[in-house]
Amino acid sequence: MNDLTANSAYSAGGWGFTGRTYIVTGGGSGIGRAIALALAGAGAQVVVAGRTPEKLDETVALIEKSGSGQALAVPTDVRDPAAVDALVAAAVERFGRLDGLVNNAAGNFVAPGIDLSPNGWRAVVDIVLNGSYYCTRAVARQLREQGTGGSVLSVIATYAWHGHPGTVHSAAAKAGVLAMTRTLAVELAPLGIRLNCIAPGPTETEGAGAALWATDEARSGVLATVPTGRFAAPEEIADASLFLLSERSSYLTGDCLTVDGGQWLGKQVYGRG
Ligand code: HXC
Repeated sequence: MNDLTANSAYSAGGWGFTGRTYIVTGGGSGIGRAIALALAGAGAQVVVAGRTPEKLDETVALIEKSGSGQALAVPTDVRDPAAVDALVAAAVERFGRLDGLVNNAAGNFVAPGIDLSPNGWRAVVDIVLNGSYYCTRAVARQLREQGTGGSVLSVIATYAWHGHPGTVHSAAAKAGVLAMTRTLAVELAPLGIRLNCIAPGPTETEGAGAALWATDEARSGVLATVPTGRFAAPEEIADASLFLLSERSSYLTGDCLTVDGGQWLGKQVYGRG
């Protein structure tokens, strides 16, 4: 099967996305936007949430221009539980139902843990851990009410389990999201709700570049840790995400798929990274 044939399974609805509705947080840029576009391309209705309305509108315009699924922008700060409940209500009002969620919204910057201010710690933990929980809770409640089951995917990072200097706030928050995923995967399995994580390696997006490899030197340093020798394209992360959201992974719950060009394994073998 060549690439074209494989990808046509999406447009043919073979992955079960046609007519389904997904919320993607942080859907205005980077990996979130790529996942939103891929879901729409596969026939889903997509609700993009984030703090910057203009960026969300751009994602919606891209989806509408592509002539694929329908999309709705709902400006939302995931740190606010009431705003998250309103996001779910807006999605249901527009599309009539929900089928899943992508917890992608994140905040990050590199800072030595010993010097991080309480507010700096709180900003990242609030977005990544608290925001993912508020969104997961609100969507799971809606799925329970519908009695339909569904799928929740959270974007984390391999440093959730190995840690990484300069990222104590993000690593701790992502580890929390992994623990949340494993806990709720068992709690919610009887409702037909699956929860998984994806751990992308360094991915070529504006947000990650600005936050994590802002200089040429930092960029080369990161690249040297990736055995495959390149950054991921956001679309490569979106492809793996669609598998985890789709019925093609129907017996997969409570786990994490690492999509990092071998970076994490390379660290074990070569001690680099
Ligand atoms: C030290 C910093 C800092 C820095 C912010 N702070 N940047 N401290 N070094 N570089 C501190 C501030 O001084 C402040 O503390 C506190 O953090 C909150 O900052 P605000 O700017 O007021 O907060 P806010 O506007 O809410 O912004 C949140 C943010 C911001 C996380 C700081 O960067 C953000 O919103 N980012 C979203 C986009 C993003 O980061 N995307 C990258 C995700 S990539 P004080 O004490 O001064 O008040 C990613 C990939 C990981 O996560 C995986 C890689 C493999």
